[in-house]
Amino acid sequence: MGLEIRLLTACDTEAYWHLRLEALEREPKSFGESAEEHRATSLDSAAERLTANPDDNFVFGAFLDGDLVGMAGFFRYTIVKTRHKGKIWGVYVRESCRGRGIGRALLSALLEKIRNCPGVEQVSLTVVAGQSAAQALYTSFGFTTYGLDPGGLKVGDEYLENEHMLLKL
Ligand SMILES: CC(C)(COP(=O)(O)OP(=O)(O)OC[C@H]1O[C@@H](n2cnc3c(N)ncnc32)[C@H](O)[C@@H]1OP(=O)(O)O)[C@@H](O)C(=O)NCCC(=O)NCCS
Repeated sequence: MGLEIRLLTACDTEAYWHLRLEALEREPKSFGESAEEHRATSLDSAAERLTANPDDNFVFGAFLDGDLVGMAGFFRYTIVKTRHKGKIWGVYVRESCRGRGIGRALLSALLEKIRNCPGVEQVSLTVVAGQSAAQALYTSFGFTTYGLDPGGLKVGDEYLENEHMLLKL
């Protein structure tokens, strides 16, 4: 069966919800949302995230032999003066599946769809400083750093620097 990269739909809600929880539990220093906050969310809200406004708001999944092992999401800002912008979020590949091109394939598919969103001119993302694999991946697609937020995240007592990156389409 091998690797399949495709948009997630309502049918993928449960697998998506569990993979997102895995990401937040295993990589708490990579994401803003906490695992506790995610556990408090419902499958209905996850389904809504996957299906509401599908032209401007979507998540790609990576399936290895049918199992969801990676994801990458995008949303477009909604108010008129910000609709030329969007944000990539939730980029994650299960640890045992890393280093074989899945993250690159997810980003490629995501960016191709973003480029086809009429009027979207730039896309941003936030990466925690020191996440060298993610930084290298984004840089290789042309993202550049436009700002650093030294106290961007507080995980327990530890402050983590957020790096804000931008790609003009
Ligand atoms: C970032 C992440 C999604 C990459 O997934 P992956 O499937 O291993 O990535 P790929 O195998 O497609 O590699 C893509 C690029 O990432 C970079 N990369 C991957 N692993 C790396 C490593 N260990 N060290 C440095 N760079 C690395 C390389 O630039 C690589 O490009 P190359 O194949 O031309 O060398 C994955 O490491 C991950 O889930 N990390 C934890 C969560 C996280 O940090 N998410 C980002 C939140 S902003």
